[in-house]
Parts: sequence; structure tokens; C-alpha cells
Amino acid sequence: YDQRMYICICNAVSDKAIHQAVGEGATSIRDLSFMTGCGTQCGSCVKHVREVLDQALAEAGEPRSQLRLQVISQG
Ligand code: FES
Repeated sequence: YDQRMYICICNAVSDKAIHQAVGEGATSIRDLSFMTGCGTQCGSCVKHVREVLDQALAEAGEPRSQLRLQVISQG
């Protein structure tokens, strides 16, 4: 994954920065706004931010849910 483009123009937040924030635990638009500043100015990027967020969560979420399943089945 090395594509880089700005999702939030106002705060120069790239899709890469959003993926990075999700890797650090962001799970919502609010988390991303807090961590990267995206969506805090004009707000026109929020829809696009959500798309990238959903994509990043889908990529990051699968190993986590597998881990959780494993823990549950062992417990
Ligand atoms: Fe993100 Fe304006 S483009 S707040």
C-alpha cells in the first residue's frame, strides 16, 4: 500500500495518514478528527474520510476479530 493522496485538503491529511491512525486504534470519524485533524474545517471531506476509514477498518479489523475468536474459544 503506497498510494498517497490528500483526503482532507484543509488539514492536508492523506489517505495514508488515515490508515496509519486506524493502525493506532482509530475506529470512527471522531477518532480520526482528533488524531489527524481531518474534517475539522470545511467538513466537505467527511464522506470521503468515511470511505477510507471503512476500507482501513476492513483491512485492519480481520486479524483482530480472528484473535478475539481464538481467545473466546480457548476461554
Ligand atoms: Fe477536510 Fe475541509 S477538506 S475539513
